[in-house]
Amino acid sequence: MIHSKPSLPVILPGCLAAMLVNGCSGPQSTLDPAGESAQKIAQLFWTMTAGAAIVWTVVVGLAVYAIKFNRGTHDVHQAGRYIIGGGVVAPTVVLTGLLIWGLALLPGLVAPAPADSLKIRVRGAQWWWRVHYQMPDIGGNVFEVRVADRQRSGRDSGIPESAAGSKPRDDAGPVAAPSAAEPGTRFFGLANEIRLPVNQPVQFYLESEDVIHSFWIPALGGKVDMIPGRQTRLTLVPTRTGVFRGACAEYCGTAHTWMNFYVIVMEQDDFSRWYRAQALPASEPLTPESTRGAELFLSSGCSACHTVRGTQADGTLGPDLTHVGSRVSLAAGVFTGGNPGQPSVDARDFSEWIADPARFKESVHMPRFGMLPDEDLRSLSVYLQSLK
Ligand code: CUA
Repeated sequence: MIHSKPSLPVILPGCLAAMLVNGCSGPQSTLDPAGESAQKIAQLFWTMTAGAAIVWTVVVGLAVYAIKFNRGTHDVHQAGRYIIGGGVVAPTVVLTGLLIWGLALLPGLVAPAPADSLKIRVRGAQWWWRVHYQMPDIGGNVFEVRVADRQRSGRDSGIPESAAGSKPRDDAGPVAAPSAAEPGTRFFGLANEIRLPVNQPVQFYLESEDVIHSFWIPALGGKVDMIPGRQTRLTLVPTRTGVFRGACAEYCGTAHTWMNFYVIVMEQDDFSRWYRAQALPASEPLTPESTRGAELFLSSGCSACHTVRGTQADGTLGPDLTHVGSRVSLAAGVFTGGNPGQPSVDARDFSEWIADPARFKESVHMPRFGMLPDEDLRSLSVYLQSLK
């Protein structure tokens, strides 16, 4: 017996329904906006879609009319009017209108945030996000790089030479200023998670540590590339609280698909509490198991790549782990407790990740620590999870 394949008219409505159900809502949907820019982008999308639908309907309607109901010949002048009117004038008017309206949205999307706004620097790296917040009560602007800073900064750019080139290039645009090399006093770091206060403008400063990445929080706004040797900017204003998912939107190597992060938009009071707590050094281990984990963290070599502020661990290659236990996901969105919409992490996730990172993220730079006895892995994980 021969089974016939489902035909296009059967597949198409199914695909459309699936897209509508899955694509229009959720933590990573550009059509479920939770920010001012995303609102404008969604509005642009729906207007363009409606415009395209109207044009399509009119064109197909006329074609059907001509084929089915009006097959006679037309005189040359009348045919000419149809062609000029329908083929030149109508598209020009419609497309010009949509173009002008679309371009008019741009200034609002690229305008910088007011000078006293929250400032966050995010650096893309294969395959995670280094996030810096200015220390509370620190004035000025720690992250902004002006073109003039480039001449002064030279090779102190904070961007690895392998990425920035062995000598500063004249056409490379601004790079990070020398002030960038003062962690702990002017800014503090975290990774793969960004928390924002609702209804407040935020100024992002975006940089790359290796290749081109693209920073995108679909529910909050448009995407902006992170380019080695340059600083790009993005202003966002979240308009409702919630957990949103961000992603790298530029292919950047083997594990590009595992370069994600979470954005948690909070009420101002909750955010202020979180912000001040994140700026503090790590809490002391309180149980024998987490104390053992803290010792192992130093003796096993973790501290060569990771910082835990307030301890001897001051490595800067990998993510800052000072408050890693407070984060909702692990390994740039690899571990989410099986629920990408309401992510959570437990000590077992830490153990599995530390034992064999490449099992979850191909080509990851972190080495495997599967040679540690299970008991040690557990102590390490308990310690890391206690870093709230
Ligand atoms: Cu980073 Cu794709």
